[in-house]
Amino acid sequence: MKIAILGYGTIGSGVFEVFGTNVDNIKKRAGEEITVKRVLDLREFPGDPVEARLTHDFRDIADDPEIECVVETMGGNEPAYTFLKELLLKGKSVCTSNKELVANHGTELLEIARQKKINFLFEASVGGAIPIIRPLMESFSGDEIIDICGIINGTTNYILTKMDRDGADYADVLAEAQAKGFAERNPEADVEGHDAARKIAILASLACGAEVDFRDVYTEGITKLTALDFEYARRMGRVIKLIASMRKIDGKVFSTVRPMLIPAETPLYTVNDVFNGILVNGRFSKSIMFYGSGAGKLPTASAVAADVIEVAKNRGRNIPIVWSNKKQPIEDRMEQKNDFFIRVKHSDKHKAKEVFSGVHIDELKPENGEFAFIARNMAEKDYEEAAKKVDIINKIRLLNVAQR
Ligand code: HSE
Repeated sequence: MKIAILGYGTIGSGVFEVFGTNVDNIKKRAGEEITVKRVLDLREFPGDPVEARLTHDFRDIADDPEIECVVETMGGNEPAYTFLKELLLKGKSVCTSNKELVANHGTELLEIARQKKINFLFEASVGGAIPIIRPLMESFSGDEIIDICGIINGTTNYILTKMDRDGADYADVLAEAQAKGFAERNPEADVEGHDAARKIAILASLACGAEVDFRDVYTEGITKLTALDFEYARRMGRVIKLIASMRKIDGKVFSTVRPMLIPAETPLYTVNDVFNGILVNGRFSKSIMFYGSGAGKLPTASAVAADVIEVAKNRGRNIPIVWSNKKQPIEDRMEQKNDFFIRVKHSDKHKAKEVFSGVHIDELKPENGEFAFIARNMAEKDYEEAAKKVDIINKIRLLNVAQR
């Protein structure tokens, strides 16, 4: 099978390397040799092994009938969306690592692939090297996924791990992560939680079999966390992680992304640095943990290569992916109940006790002239009302393992 790659960046060059070096193994598993015929990129790569196959013209790929499958690793919505739609309509299967594209256009592109009896696969769009899309699609097909709870953004996990270990503040760790290349120069999509929101929307769409719009996922980032929050967390025997979740309760679906205090009893507690960890709860299978490299050149490329091999093994057949164009409603978070860790100024202690009086309060030791406590089992809307009446320094929700 002849394939092409759109984009020779980190992941695209990784895919090129995997197909150039893992030849025999791939041939055995795919049942035939898979060759990269063309690579599209606007840049030149003098002296690079890609040189002979490099093109700057998309038509060299779209109009080549020999190319049956195209890997997209450009990232972003455009021109990726326009390119992929044309390729699928022309009957070429597509494998992508582009979570933004899958979250925005997955429903439509999957439908075209179905009609054309080809495949649109996206294993590498969530969790990098971790097999998570195919397990949700196939391995849980005899079950019902009722809960997904995960650390699915490596950049923020690296920052949070450093803040925890070094007692450092957010801005300092971000600057260091940027200098080392672990965080983008424009880190907004990662640190504000948007990347995780897109990824959980993809997983939730697979779990629900209907389109979950990432814009319906209530999202909070990590930018307001301070070194002191981590100190309190340590005292509680917890760590702070950016948690993306999807939960079905009595037929209703809830989905959020936000920093949470994680207790040691969950395996998510030990997911550190750039690693990802995803806890999936099936109605019958119960708790299953996926863990591994959530990003990076070769780890992510290995997931893309596996998709390409699936395409080779399924010529003329659309692999069923239950993700319809029906929109899955996401419930308003305001009705959800949570335990909140809350910090106020010490002078606001009595006011805070009055305002949060309807809920259980565990006082923590006063720190730096503050009053910190945990308000238990409080509806989000009640928290928001109470928070208007007192000056909150910061609040972080607690992950309740017993509920998961
Ligand atoms: N920016 C993403 C992350 C890359 O940090 O997880 C992998 O999707």
